[in-house]
Amino acid sequence: MAKIAVLGFGVVGSGTVELFYKNKDSIIKKAGTDLDIKYILDIRDFPGSPFADKFTKSIDDIVNDDEVTIVAEAMGGVNPAYDFVKSCLEKGKSVVTSNKELVAKKGAELLAIAKKMNCNFLFEASTGGAIPVIRPMHRCLAGNEISAVAGILNGTTNFILTKMINEQMDFAEALKIAQDLGYAEKDPTADIEGHDACRKICILSSLAFGKHVYPDWVHCEGITKITAEDAQYAENWGGAIKLIGSVKKTADGKILPMVRPAFICDGNQLSHVSDVFNAIMVYADAVDQVMFYGRGAGKFPTASAIVGDIVDAARMNGTSVSQTWEDSADNSFIADYKDDVVSVYVRTKGVSQAKVSEAFGTVEYISRENQPADELAFITPELKEKDFDAKLEALGGEILGKIRVLDMED
Ligand code: HSE
Repeated sequence: MAKIAVLGFGVVGSGTVELFYKNKDSIIKKAGTDLDIKYILDIRDFPGSPFADKFTKSIDDIVNDDEVTIVAEAMGGVNPAYDFVKSCLEKGKSVVTSNKELVAKKGAELLAIAKKMNCNFLFEASTGGAIPVIRPMHRCLAGNEISAVAGILNGTTNFILTKMINEQMDFAEALKIAQDLGYAEKDPTADIEGHDACRKICILSSLAFGKHVYPDWVHCEGITKITAEDAQYAENWGGAIKLIGSVKKTADGKILPMVRPAFICDGNQLSHVSDVFNAIMVYADAVDQVMFYGRGAGKFPTASAIVGDIVDAARMNGTSVSQTWEDSADNSFIADYKDDVVSVYVRTKGVSQAKVSEAFGTVEYISRENQPADELAFITPELKEKDFDAKLEALGGEILGKIRVLDMED
């Protein structure tokens, strides 16, 4: 018998409790042991809730109750989630979490505590929502050397970009719908500025390459500068614009994690991933490439991953089998993105083709309907990122947009 505590009764926490009771009988069979939720921690009151007898406002009730062996954290943010999770792990309770910020910033430390205490720290729900990707990368792909991971890791921005492009909806309206559907973070800046995707690529990078990658070390750009015109050019070029989180091994043995919007050609499956869906491509020596796809955000998709981890924690009670990685003292293993070789979409105003050729050599021009006479859009040949800005400056005129093009294995 295992008793569970759920920390946080927001969108994901309430989804976890509801899903658990909806499918309780089959969940217990899969866990191989009886399970029940004993506590729900939240500072708010929920009068009339069917779970009224389970609410507590004190983490001590949970930490000091030896009957509770599994804790599901769905509070979000580092404080106070970090203190709560650490206290539970130090008592030998397994913790499962959907909190990507916590894992991205404190994962190495919490994994080490879990290992020492012979319990588990599991976080399938932290990346890709409903998509099983953490456990498959850790277990099913264990025989591989991973060379790169690239994915659409944020449901809110993918939803917004899809609405803007397919329904000509404006940014604010699309964001409001994403918030109403429970996809967005409490502060949606984390979604639209790429910070949420950054936390997720930190988790996947740490998992793939065995050393903790902290968010401050990752070059990150969001989607706020993307316009309908850029989207139209992308379509006419034969692709789409997506917010991509990626990491790859570089020739000098380092790794390069990054988050940025990217032009993706139609031949790449990521270009066809729409709405709240996420997709993650993993490139590895034995499998070549595998793709994980599904709903990346939302109440029940995320709860699905949490409940899956609860079942795993129950089955593995008394054994520490969590994925693990080393902490990293510094970022000397992270490559400088300015040394990367890129090809870039550029949209200019008041620049001549002669100037473009002078700066970049032969480029691929793209056109759009109602293109103003003084507007030029083109894709540069490959060049080092550090040389790009100087060439752009040499164009003169106005730069209306610049978006990197994604390689198949970027
Ligand atoms: N705000 C996140 C997203 C939630 O939109 O992907 C899931 O992590």
